Amino acid sequence: MTIYIPEDKVSEIKNTADIVEVISEVVVLKKTGKNYVGLCPFHSEKTPSFTVSPEKQIFYCFGCAAGGNVFSFLMKHDGMSFPDAAKILAGRYGINIPTTTMSPEQKRRMSQRESLFAANRQAMEFFRKKLLDDISGRRAIKYLKKRGINKEILDKFYLGYAPEGWENLLRFFTKKNISLDLVEKAGLIVPRKEKSGFYDRFRDRIIFPIFDLNMQVTGFGGRVMDDSLPKYLNSPETPVYHKGRSLYGLHLAKMKCRENERVFIVEGYFDLLALHQQGLQDSVATLGTSLTAEHAQLLKGFIGKDGRVILVFDSDDAGIKASQKSIEVFDKAYINAQILILPDGYDPDSYISEFGVEAFLDLVSKAKDIIPFLMDSAVKKHGLSIEGKIRIISDMEDALWSISDNIRRSLYIKELAECIHIDESAVLEKIRKISVRNRDRAKRPIRANTDLGRGHRKTGVPDKAQEKVFQGKWDKLERQIISMMLQFPQILSEIYDRNILDLFENNALKSIGQTLLTHKDDSKLQVSDIIDLFKLKEQKNMVASLAIGENVWDHEACIGIINRFESIRKKNENKLLEQIKAAEKDNDLDLLAKLLNQKQKMALLNEKKKMALLK
Ligand code: UTP
Ligand code: MN
Repeated sequence: MTIYIPEDKVSEIKNTADIVEVISEVVVLKKTGKNYVGLCPFHSEKTPSFTVSPEKQIFYCFGCAAGGNVFSFLMKHDGMSFPDAAKILAGRYGINIPTTTMSPEQKRRMSQRESLFAANRQAMEFFRKKLLDDISGRRAIKYLKKRGINKEILDKFYLGYAPEGWENLLRFFTKKNISLDLVEKAGLIVPRKEKSGFYDRFRDRIIFPIFDLNMQVTGFGGRVMDDSLPKYLNSPETPVYHKGRSLYGLHLAKMKCRENERVFIVEGYFDLLALHQQGLQDSVATLGTSLTAEHAQLLKGFIGKDGRVILVFDSDDAGIKASQKSIEVFDKAYINAQILILPDGYDPDSYISEFGVEAFLDLVSKAKDIIPFLMDSAVKKHGLSIEGKIRIISDMEDALWSISDNIRRSLYIKELAECIHIDESAVLEKIRKISVRNRDRAKRPIRANTDLGRGHRKTGVPDKAQEKVFQGKWDKLERQIISMMLQFPQILSEIYDRNILDLFENNALKSIGQTLLTHKDDSKLQVSDIIDLFKLKEQKNMVASLAIGENVWDHEACIGIINRFESIRKKNENKLLEQIKAAEKDNDLDLLAKLLNQKQKMALLNEKKKMALLK
């Protein structure tokens, strides 16, 4: 299902693209030594373990073991295929990929994602034209003017208009001979229920195209211009549009978010436009959905480790509900989130248009962290009677419990206890009860438990544990050898001549080593190319992990490690002989069979080695 990108183009892209530059767009990176580090975009963490090597053009996360080159990064981060990643990079670095080199068959096989993006872009142009058309767009332009949207914003966000009628877009695509199945997949037309055929999803609506970070059009939102319902209509989930991953305006907000280490999150399209129009470009909108962990992760890439998120919500009740829901999301992502509640009846758009941006910024400076905000709201709502206090605690239970950091949690518990004049231990007791209740329901994985389990096993079956430790050491040497092969290719012939890989026990490491040996004479091969030699994601990760270290290898040290590895192997052989003798003496036939089998394997290896030396 892929389009063909000529090999020489792939290398040209690889040689031109800079991994630090590409990753910097979505992760705040800091230089440390030769490498750059930042917060991993693939898992949630407090301290940076995501490492990028400009020299090797690879990345690796010591926290979640994701790794690869610039292509793998885009594929993993943006969920795209290899050709898509290559095309994006080619476009970015001005490398021309000739489409004429594609056969008609290859053209047909153009990836589905790409065709969907193309259909969406054409629809966007169609809506745009209808908006700018004097006749069809007149009402829409008038509406946008009334909402205070200026021309600059209208252009920047590429707003459009879907005309009245059931088949405008349908006819447009039919005329262009574009597969209607594809257009349906893009969510732009809907199959008719009664008879065959389709009709337009968006009719007589202002259109908001939704872009991803690469400026591809993923979907649309559409608003009616009167009071009819639904007020807003969004694209359905499609292979390229996932509302839980999309943030409206992020493509224009990302630079400012990075610069200010801050992001405003609003709920509505027009709110977002209003903030951008007022120069607060570090704003995004969620699209008719509550905030997800993916949103949080994405934003964290731009605001960085110490950045702040400011949720801007309409009125108290909606705001309380939304912030309660988002606590866990932010807590898990270690994000410092604040909440700004606008006076009753206002949203960011209407507030700014009535009171101006200064007044809005004044509220920003008074924004509260989420937990204190919830406490205040609960106190306001229930009052400080005995009944009230009980309700306050019960309102706060879940929020307090979802804070995973023990110190943070206990500080807030203390604050709550002081605020409502109640004994801290009573609050604590209450929270503990929920935690037991929730644990029983297995709502949340209990982290400490796994460690306990391991400890028990250790004392219970000492032999197994010892074996593990031994294997660990063994594994470590094997890893070290592959590392050296990746980082110090001069050693490859030594490894080859002495058949060192034959002594490996870890098959995954061994197969990486073997692949490296088959390419040992290709001196042009870089680490970032080597990653592409492996098909499996796990292998790519492993290669990145072994290559990224900043070890300084020299020939002598390498030989030392290889010798040590070989001699441990020898010692094992002697130990095996002793074990065999003992088993014979005890008449333990099962064990004997097993040991002899091992010995045979070793003998075979030795034989192979001798042959190699004789050659
Ligand atoms: P609101 O109903 O608060 O509207 O929806 P709004 O943004 O203030 O809209 P205007 O100012 O009247 O134009 C907030 C957001 O929730 C989503 C949209 O993203 C909207 O901007 N929404 C709302 C829907 O997806 N569908 C709807 O029917 C309503
Ligand atoms: Mn509004």
